[in-house]
Amino acid sequence: MMAFAQGAAQPAYKRAELPIKMRVADLLSRMTLDEKVGQLNQLSGGVLTGPAAAGDAGQKAKLDQVRQGRMGSFLNVLGAKETGNVQKIAVEESRLGIPLLFAYDVIHGYKTVFPIPLAEASTWNPAAAELAASIAAKEAASAGLHWTFAPMMDVTREPRWGRVMEGSGEDPYLGAEFAAARVRGFQGSEWDNEHIMACVKHFAAYGAPEGGREYNTVDISRYALWNYYLPPYKAAVEAGSATVMNAFNIVDAVPASGNHYLNRTVLRDKWGFKGFIVSDWSSFGEMIAHGYAADDADAAKKALMAGSDMDMESRVMQKEMANLIRDGKVPMKTLDEAVGRILYWKFKLGLFENPYKYSDEAREKATLLTAAHRKLAREAAGESMILLKNEGGLLPFSKSVKRVLVAGHFAESQEEVLDFWKGHGDHKDTITILEGIKNKLPGASVSFSKGYNPPEYDDSYYAFNNIKREDEKTHTPAQLLGGLKVQAAAADIIIAVIGLSGRVAGEARTLADIDPHPAQMAMLETLKATGKPVVVVVQSGRPLILTEIDKNYPAILNAWIGGTEHGNAVADILFGDVNPSAKTTISFPYALGQVPIYYNRYNTGRPHIDGREGNDRFWVSRYRDIPNEPLYPFGYGLSYSKFEYSGMSLAKNKINQNQSVNVSVTVKNTGKRAGHEVVQLYIRDLVASRVRPLKELKDFKKVEIGAGESKTVNFELPAEKLGFYDEDGNWLLEPGAYKIFVGSSSRDVLEADLTLE
Ligand code: NOJ
Repeated sequence: MMAFAQGAAQPAYKRAELPIKMRVADLLSRMTLDEKVGQLNQLSGGVLTGPAAAGDAGQKAKLDQVRQGRMGSFLNVLGAKETGNVQKIAVEESRLGIPLLFAYDVIHGYKTVFPIPLAEASTWNPAAAELAASIAAKEAASAGLHWTFAPMMDVTREPRWGRVMEGSGEDPYLGAEFAAARVRGFQGSEWDNEHIMACVKHFAAYGAPEGGREYNTVDISRYALWNYYLPPYKAAVEAGSATVMNAFNIVDAVPASGNHYLNRTVLRDKWGFKGFIVSDWSSFGEMIAHGYAADDADAAKKALMAGSDMDMESRVMQKEMANLIRDGKVPMKTLDEAVGRILYWKFKLGLFENPYKYSDEAREKATLLTAAHRKLAREAAGESMILLKNEGGLLPFSKSVKRVLVAGHFAESQEEVLDFWKGHGDHKDTITILEGIKNKLPGASVSFSKGYNPPEYDDSYYAFNNIKREDEKTHTPAQLLGGLKVQAAAADIIIAVIGLSGRVAGEARTLADIDPHPAQMAMLETLKATGKPVVVVVQSGRPLILTEIDKNYPAILNAWIGGTEHGNAVADILFGDVNPSAKTTISFPYALGQVPIYYNRYNTGRPHIDGREGNDRFWVSRYRDIPNEPLYPFGYGLSYSKFEYSGMSLAKNKINQNQSVNVSVTVKNTGKRAGHEVVQLYIRDLVASRVRPLKELKDFKKVEIGAGESKTVNFELPAEKLGFYDEDGNWLLEPGAYKIFVGSSSRDVLEADLTLE
């Protein structure tokens, strides 16, 4: 532990009683040009000290840079011991002893893995996401980390995109609520050693890649940028996110890393963001491939001048910035501002007073994967899984069932259950669905069959590559399915698990085909042929096309990727200990050809309206072969309770721009058990200076309603929420007629009229 004596004899930057701004200025005045540039440098560290790193010239070179004061931060250096070792070198062996920042992708948990963010959003309970982020922060901080690259708040309409799992879905309002909640969870309200800096990413519009293909072109209007894509980032900034990450993509044909409009005009000038901006991995250097920078020097200059600060892994700042300053091509003032922003956060975290405050091995041991954290992860997972279909109330099953068949490779594989962004989570700590069901039913006979499933993945190329599993080399598909039939015949209930491996959820995991694999469908058909009811559990990091399954199977639970306690949470729902309450936050397409499909779309000049005939049916915007509507709309999800909506009313039907209106609705639980319902409020601006979506979510409440009880749910809708952005980011509030909708999903609503004067 390092403590500086206080007092005038100390240089100002070491004096904790002085305002941070003054300390930053003093430190900057003492730094050489190389030391300043060093603060912009962030490399992936890995293991840098101890026997594992001994003799590794590359690792030694990184530590030499630390000693020379030419390193501002590492990502991927983990653990109280290792971060402490490396910090010691920075503090004791570099000239000014400036501490390093240790960063990591703590996306949905560090060691205790919580459900993927898309699943967390499906809870429609931002407080749950806040709690999950606070546990993730606590664990990560105990492992020496100061900073997470989360939350990812890219609004997306792209189930093909592997990173759909990492966001909150397709809605800007819901996204903004979760953005703020996650930032609060990670950062807390004070900089103790149990919280970490957040980094909202990827700024901006990274969720709109053409064709859903990772790293691809984004080409959207400014109007869409302001209204659909920016609101969650803005909410994260307003919640105090310490940092922001550049996106890989272009916006208005300029790479985000070099995009002055995004980084200076929007982020700093309009939103007053005071933190620093980190590139995405090598995104400064990638401006060359984009065709926006001529070489490394040009890339470094364009990034800094556009307002980006820290260079993750491009190394162009380290290589070129000092020369650019010496040659007068970049003003020293611009460099000082960027370095000052980074130093500010090192002071703010208290690292100059105590550089090791996060690196405490005893605390780490006591904090990671505790029973209490596992319990919270289980609750979070149970709240995040969406009951998509439950014909005849087939679910929940009784716990007194005697013979259960669990089918499908994913039900038993610990390897496939965690995704790419599992943090430091270990597959071995994860509860599979099979294990969860066995835990739930100690007195039953639970048998398992892999069925006939896509067995292996070759991550380097394709998700499914027809590699044969061992038993498939020796058995024909018919033999494998024949075995399944025998097991199914002996079972009272059948739980079939299909979906996608966690290995294809996350960065660089784009899929062009999001239908369940034919082998999984063959497994389901074999099970169905027994005449027994088959419950389908879908384990996946993205919405799949479930149309065939919806037509043919009585019950479907979309379990997402639920983290460490995944299997227990699935069993909690299937056997009724948890009443499902999650709802979709992204539309589940009817067919892939609909993508992008989203509820907050425009009407078009030729909308398709159900029931119309003749020319009104023919010359309109619709598919000839499939419905326009998704299979499961935004906001949809079932419960073991049944909720009925009635009596929607507005307290007045006219308001002025400074007023609000009370919107109320009665929700009755006509079911036999208490449950939670997410009551959703949408608006439509009927005529405006720019066309507005058919529906826009503006509020929601998750309420608990007892069996047979009614609750009146009230929303206070301020006129302000009726507005929208123009293409320059000005908020417009236009008088006229509005529709207000309240309901249980974006499809099932009651409506009323409101006039804004
Ligand atoms: C690239 C990803 O796009 C970003 O989200 C992540 O934080 C960095 N790699 C660091 O791992």
